[in-house]
Order: sequence, then structure tokens, then C-alpha cells
Amino acid sequence: MAARIFVSILKISPKFKKAVWKRIYQFLASKYQTEDWTFMNYGFQSLNKSERIELKKEDETNRFFIQLYNYVASKVDLKNKRILEVGSGRGGGADYVDRYFQPSKMFGVDYSRNAIEFCNKVFKDSKVEYKLGDAENLPFENESLDVVINVESSHCYANVSAFFAEVNRVLKSGGYFSFADFRDKEPFEDLKKDLANSGLEIVKSTNISKEVLRALDDFNEEKMKRFGKMFGSWLKKPLSEFAGMKGSSIYEDLSNGNTLYYYYLLRKN
Ligand SMILES: C[S@@+](CC[C@H](N)C(=O)[O-])C[C@H]1O[C@@H](n2cnc3c(N)ncnc32)[C@H](O)[C@@H]1O
Repeated sequence: MAARIFVSILKISPKFKKAVWKRIYQFLASKYQTEDWTFMNYGFQSLNKSERIELKKEDETNRFFIQLYNYVASKVDLKNKRILEVGSGRGGGADYVDRYFQPSKMFGVDYSRNAIEFCNKVFKDSKVEYKLGDAENLPFENESLDVVINVESSHCYANVSAFFAEVNRVLKSGGYFSFADFRDKEPFEDLKKDLANSGLEIVKSTNISKEVLRALDDFNEEKMKRFGKMFGSWLKKPLSEFAGMKGSSIYEDLSNGNTLYYYYLLRKN
């Protein structure tokens, strides 16, 4: 109930929504410096169990989150390309893409200063460059990147069209935008219009709600254990909502189709 009220308040003003999300991510990155917590997405699990990606032993603990990154990153060839992740959070995704896909340069941008400081500490030996920046005003030159990826971040933005315009600006001609996120049914219609008007060509769109839900199911028990260790009881309940635990609003809405989780691949012509 509290989560639903909170979500309704966020719908009132896009700028307010953006500021509230920033507070939340700033707080999480400063208060919880747990170095092995480096992903913040709902995860992905193929419905075909035989489709299992090979991971190094040390990455197994983040398998479900990595599988979402793998889905987004494997749709285009990243080798020797300049890649930007917008909304890189606690940095695990950009680090994974850099280690497994061999780009020539990998950047991670996030508007949470604390998250960037966390990444620069935890991934100090990584080649990834983590930079402070806003999705709606990217700190990159025109036509300077080959691929932009974006994982479960755009729902926080005040103006998603401004973000798409920025992606269009920073991509080289022939570059790709690989994007995954969720929306409730009605805002999803707006998202589709914004994508159609982005100036980028839609190459592929796939509803991955079932795969995300499968990951939430398969990881639920382990997530509960990790939350139990990390968070005090006052935070456990609201964070369980945001983390999509079984019984949370987001879990129910993904199950009943009120919320859709989509993957899009777009190309700058
Ligand atoms: C749910 S987390 C996902 C993080 C990461 N992509 C992952 O999957 O682990 C959303 C991230 O988007 C970032 N974010 C939200 N709004 C942003 C904006 N306007 N510009 C840049 N980053 C933003 C947040 O700070 C947060 O780190």
C-alpha cells in the first residue's frame, strides 16, 4: 500500500520523480558500501534452461543480473568499439561488459555522485571510466560513441525524450542503442511514441517480462537472505518492494501484465 502511494506521488511531477530517485540512489551508495553489491536490476532468466551463458566462477553470484546485461550487450558486436552505459549504478554491469565483450573503451555514467565514487573505489583496477553525468545532458562529444546501453534506469528520468535525443547526438552514424526497462501499461504507450520519434530506427523490440519474472522467482530466496544480512528491519520492507520480491507490487504487476518489461535495439542511420 505504502509503495503504491509512493509511486502515485512520483507520477505527479517528472522533475520531482527524478529528484526522489536521485536521493534514493545517493543514499544507497553512501550508506551501503558493501563491495560485493554491484548490480541493481531485476535480472533475466531465459525460459529455455539450456541457454546458459558461460561465466567465470567469481561472477556466478551475480548470474541473474549479468544475464540481463548479457541480453542487452550481446545484440550488437562490441569488440573494439567505444561503449557508454547510461545509469551504470554500482558499476557491475559496465565492468562485466568490459571484461567479456572487449570494447576499445567502456564508460559508465550515473547522476549519483556517491555511486560514481563507489565504482571508482570498488573497480579501481578496471579499465572502465565511471563518470558523473545526467542521462538528459550526457558529458560526451557529438558522434563520439559506437554503442549506448541502458539497463533499468530510464524509468527514473524526468524527460525520456531528452535522453533519446542525447543518445542520438552522441552516437556515430551506424551506431546502436541497446535498451531495457519497464513501464506500466499506459506510460509504456508514451515510451513507444518517444522511441518512434527519437530519430533512431527501431531494429528490434521484445517483451522480456516473462524472463525478468523468472529471474525474480529463481533469485527470490537468495535475495531475501542477502537483504536479511544487509538491511535493518525498517528498510527491509520498502527495499523489498523496489527489489521486486515475491508479493511486491512490481512483482504482482509484472505477473498480471500491468507492468511490461521491454528490450529495444535502435540504430542511428
Ligand atoms: C535500478 S538502477 C540500475 C543500475 C544498473 N544499470 C544495474 O542494472 O545494476 C538505476 C540507476 O540509474 C541511475 N539514474 C537514474 N536517473 C539518472 C539520470 N537522469 N542520469 C544518469 N543516471 C541516472 C540511478 O542513479 C541508478 O544508479
